[in-house]
Parts: sequence; C-alpha cells; structure tokens
Amino acid sequence: MAEQQLRFRGTVIRGFGRGSKELGCPTANLDVNSFPWLDNCAIGVYYGWASVPAARPGAVLPAVVSVGYNPHYGNTTKTLEVHIMDEFESDFYDSVLNLVLVGYIRPMEKYDSLDALIAAIDADKAFAADKLAGDAWAELKADAFFSATDESDGWQEANPDEPVFAAPPATAAETSS
Ligand SMILES: Cc1cc2nc3c(=O)[nH]c(=O)nc-3n(C[C@H](O)[C@H](O)[C@H](O)COP(=O)(O)O)c2cc1C
Repeated sequence: MAEQQLRFRGTVIRGFGRGSKELGCPTANLDVNSFPWLDNCAIGVYYGWASVPAARPGAVLPAVVSVGYNPHYGNTTKTLEVHIMDEFESDFYDSVLNLVLVGYIRPMEKYDSLDALIAAIDADKAFAADKLAGDAWAELKADAFFSATDESDGWQEANPDEPVFAAPPATAAETSS
C-alpha cells in the first residue's frame, strides 16, 4: 500500500479540450480551487485510483494525473487533470469523480514536440500500470470513498495542512531500473 495518499472529490469540469484530440489522452479536469491541500503537492505527474460511479458504477480504475501549468502549452493557470486508464463510452462532464493519489512520477516538463509529450505520457501510463498492478491495492479499492456520487457527501481530506508529496517519494527514473 502507498505510504502517502491524497484524496479529491469533485465534479468534472471542462478543460481546454486538447487532451483527447491532440494527445490521444482524454483528461477529466477538477476545479483546483476546491482543494486547498493541492498547494502541498509538488507540480508534476502522479498516479492513483479513480472512480466515476455515474459512468462506471462499482469500478475503481487506475489513473495518471497532471498537476500544474502544462508548460508545453504555456498555460498560466494551474490545472488538475485526471486521465483514467480505461475506455469510456462517452464524456462524463458534470459527474462526480473520486480520486486518491498514491504516488509521484515526475515533474512537469516542456517538451520540444507534441510527439515527445505523447511519448512521456505513454511512459507515465506504463509506469503507473506497473505500480498499480497486483493485489496490494484491494483494501484501498474497497474504500467507500470511491462510491460517492454526490460532491457534498460528508468527507474531508485527513490532513489538509500537512505537506503531502512535497518531497516526492521516488521518481520514475529512480525506481524503474
Ligand atoms: C499523465 C499526464 C502527463 C502530462 N505531462 C505533461 C507535461 O510534462 N508537460 C505538459 O506541458 N503537459 C503535460 N500534461 C498535460 C497535457 O498537456 C494536457 O493534458 C493537455 O494540455 C490537455 O489539456 P486539456 O484537455 O485541458 O486541453 C500531462 C497530462 C497527463 C494526463
């Protein structure tokens, strides 16, 4: 199980809409202003577990998550973007998404080309799939946190004032060898 966890629950909002078209990587955006504890997260790419019960009842799915300013596109506002590593029949804007980050992969980079960004994201997905494989996650995946369909369901991040992932536990480069 992960040593660090950080929880997010929010309604999916619209991003810039480039994710699925240009990158082949659809992302669900959450409103960063809803999560004060996001300031305790280093800017970068994370992995974890996500659910969208309205779209996929009962499923808890692996996800890669971007937290930051998307330097490749020169964004000046911070975004929280979740790519769920599974197929969905349609978009799920306005649905509640439950997310638990369990690990850090790498800092956000400005790549020379779109192809380089796509290759980096593919590597993130492979790294996350490897980390999230296996039975060790059964207890977390069974957590009732993932079954909520209403943003107002009683819940609070356990330690919002504590730095979490501020010092990333490991980078992909360090652990993939
Ligand atoms: C796993 C993952 C890794 C990402 N890594 C980077 C990155 O290193 N640099 C960057 O500029 N954007 C990165 N992004 C963000 C993409 O640029 C972003 O998803 C894209 O701009 C689509 O956003 P949009 O759907 O809001 O248009 C990453 C996104 C994901 C899901």
